[in-house]
Amino acid sequence: MGKLENRVAVVTGGGSGLGRGMCIRFAAEGAKVIIADLKLEAAEETAAMIREQGGEALAVECNVLEAESIAAMVKAGVAAFGKIDILSNNTGICLEARNSIRIVDLEEKDWDFTMDLNLKSAFLCCKYVIPEMIKAGGGNIVNISSIAGHKPAFSAAYGAAKAGVIAFTQSVAMQYADDNIRVNCICPGPMKTPTGIMANRLGIYKQAQPARIRMLERLGEAEDIANAAVFLLSEDSSFMTGTQLNVDGGSFAMTVNIPPRVK
Ligand SMILES: NC(=O)c1ccc[n+]([C@@H]2O[C@H](COP(=O)([O-])OP(=O)(O)OC[C@H]3O[C@@H](n4cnc5c(N)ncnc54)[C@H](O)[C@@H]3O)[C@@H](O)[C@H]2O)c1
Repeated sequence: MGKLENRVAVVTGGGSGLGRGMCIRFAAEGAKVIIADLKLEAAEETAAMIREQGGEALAVECNVLEAESIAAMVKAGVAAFGKIDILSNNTGICLEARNSIRIVDLEEKDWDFTMDLNLKSAFLCCKYVIPEMIKAGGGNIVNISSIAGHKPAFSAAYGAAKAGVIAFTQSVAMQYADDNIRVNCICPGPMKTPTGIMANRLGIYKQAQPARIRMLERLGEAEDIANAAVFLLSEDSSFMTGTQLNVDGGSFAMTVNIPPRVK
């Protein structure tokens, strides 16, 4: 029997990278999965992978920056599977990673977009999914932050947004503990997703920490995050809420943290 049997999970940004990895693994653990992604085709691809392995999935086109779109996704998910009791707030982006922009040069719209996709999206999804969890008698939320959220990062907007995800996780955990809802977050380090590979190719992680960036030499795989998420969503972690779990190859624990030369 899987660790998420009889559960219904929403995964935002489930059409790619870490989100896709979580969708596939949640389904393998017995959950029915609602894949909420801006790109319907990508969500459909993930759904097809789940069905191929005998699981149940619903692909939904959803923009996590828009309340109406989230409300419609939640409605479609409940209509398909009867309830929602798992939420993975996974969407996020680091625009500054592209060329290590300093804040004087950071465009206001890019600051806002970074905050919205990484942080406000979690607020909006919780706002619409938590009432369904309460109806279901409880639930479990896992937010995807980053080690940049609690270790100095050159990218100011991304670091601030991801730090916000950690604080948000703690507050929501406190607010809904009595409703049998646990809320935790995962802080990935450098990962082997399309976005992570791009950042690595551009030397972003090395630029931030030129000496050595993590204890374990390999990059993280989507499966590494999915494993941690299943743990946080299952009874194995029933005494954990409001926590952050680093899945980073030892990156957070490395003390070397030399800022890049900017001139
Ligand atoms: N990749 C890394 O190295 C790394 C490291 C630390 C943290 N993270 C975090 O992990 C999370 C996932 O990262 P990833 O590398 O897998 O991302 P990714 O770029 O591979 O996938 C993101 C997915 O989100 C979808 N999406 C984008 N905007 C959306 C919107 N408005 N509404 C709904 N869906 C939308 C995209 O279509 C895509 O399918 C992010 O929060 C990221 O900040 C990633």
